[in-house]
Amino acid sequence: MKIGVIGSGYVGLVAAACFAEIGHDVICVDNDAEKLAALNAGAVPIHEKFLPELLQKHRGKRLNFSGSVHDAVRASAAIFIAVGTPQSETGEADLSYVEAVSRELAHALAEAKDDYKIIVEKSTVPVYTNAWIHRVMEQNGAPQGSFDVASNPEFLREGSAVTDFLYPDRIVAGADQERCAAIMRAIYEPLTSGEYQKRADAIPRPDAARVPAEIIVTSAKSAELIKHASNAFLAMKISFINAVANICESVGADVQQVREGIGADSRIGKRFLNPGIGYGGSCFPKDLKAFHAVAREFGSDFRLLDEVIRINEEQRQRFLRKIRATLWTLKGKRLAVLGLAFKGGTDDVRESPAIALVECLIKEGCSVVAYDPAAMDKSREVLNSSIIYAESSYAAAKDADAVLILTDWEEFGALDLERLKTALKFPIMIDGRNLYSPKRMAEAGFTYVSVGRPDVAPHKSAVKAPRA
Ligand code: UDX
Repeated sequence: MKIGVIGSGYVGLVAAACFAEIGHDVICVDNDAEKLAALNAGAVPIHEKFLPELLQKHRGKRLNFSGSVHDAVRASAAIFIAVGTPQSETGEADLSYVEAVSRELAHALAEAKDDYKIIVEKSTVPVYTNAWIHRVMEQNGAPQGSFDVASNPEFLREGSAVTDFLYPDRIVAGADQERCAAIMRAIYEPLTSGEYQKRADAIPRPDAARVPAEIIVTSAKSAELIKHASNAFLAMKISFINAVANICESVGADVQQVREGIGADSRIGKRFLNPGIGYGGSCFPKDLKAFHAVAREFGSDFRLLDEVIRINEEQRQRFLRKIRATLWTLKGKRLAVLGLAFKGGTDDVRESPAIALVECLIKEGCSVVAYDPAAMDKSREVLNSSIIYAESSYAAAKDADAVLILTDWEEFGALDLERLKTALKFPIMIDGRNLYSPKRMAEAGFTYVSVGRPDVAPHKSAVKAPRA
């Protein structure tokens, strides 16, 4: 099928590349001429596994980039809207980009005057956006009956976006008209029939992937709510375990054991129950506030969400208090920070709890030497220039008073502890992601402070005099 994707941000670009991968002809549109030139020249603007391979494979063939919405509409049977829906000052989603695109789509449809086409909202949007897109398009000249609007929320996670798209837990297609639903089914047919996954050149299937993929067809409004409710539920799981971690700290229990015990109940599950310094990223913080605002607009005060957000914010403050409690005063201390991205596997620092913590540490007068395998360039754009960037974890640790782990990169959980200890001025690790076992850290000679578990001091056999 011929598909247009408006927006080449995270969701748009991954969707466009994956639609090409499953056999569609795709035109991906962006109004940023510089970005288009870079994409056409072979650049890969985001750090995402398998994306370079897909872009390389399909660019100029089944995947083309263009600055013209009109070209995409003319050529396509389905046009996906994947532009940003940033948070406005009051917490609601700012839908001005979606509205602007809807107007352009309407003008293009009025010109095209031919076949029936579907417009698909893929950006995360509040309930009723589908109806608004429809209304705005009609007001702007899109001929009645020439189009329908579907809602197809995207659940991909950064770092595993391509495999999430190609091996989804479910595909949600919100369509109020049967002919619109039929086109949605046809678009995803290579995934729901299992045909794509059987291909010899398919992107490798992740272990727990559900094959063939399931498509759930709902009303447009339900689909819109599914997206917000899913993200809110996942964020609630994280805040829940963080609140439990805090109780564990008060009573001397171990949250990792408690998590094992809770998660073994198949009704609960272990996933998304990792305690830490709170959730961040471009979705959860924004979507929770937007969902809360939508609920309020329609007369219900979803106070549970307030609490989820409050616990998340409090979690960072608690971590800061832990650093203070371990190091006493912060002014003048040299701290090695491992991790700046909002989670491992991405270069994204949007709403990163690591960045927020670094900012607080700098305000308190610490000198920060940071290392992140992928997010240092993006950090430079948002962080105060006084932070120093290091080439490796060990270089960051050199002569530091303590090392902090703020992002759950795999490599931070596999450090050479002897080498790290030699580099540090004092063998102190404050781990915001629980990447090590306290017992092992004590044996390796570290003072180790983590989340929801008792702090440990270096095992006697591993103690040596601190360096001057
Ligand atoms: C999320 C949703 O998972 C995805 O379905 C949606 O499409 C977009 O938002 P993403 O923002 O890429 O994806 O990251 P995710 O892996 O969900 O992590 C979000 C945040 O929660 C990160 O800061 C992560 O470190 C934190 N987290 C996650 C925890 O603190 N504990 C956990 O157990 C899981």
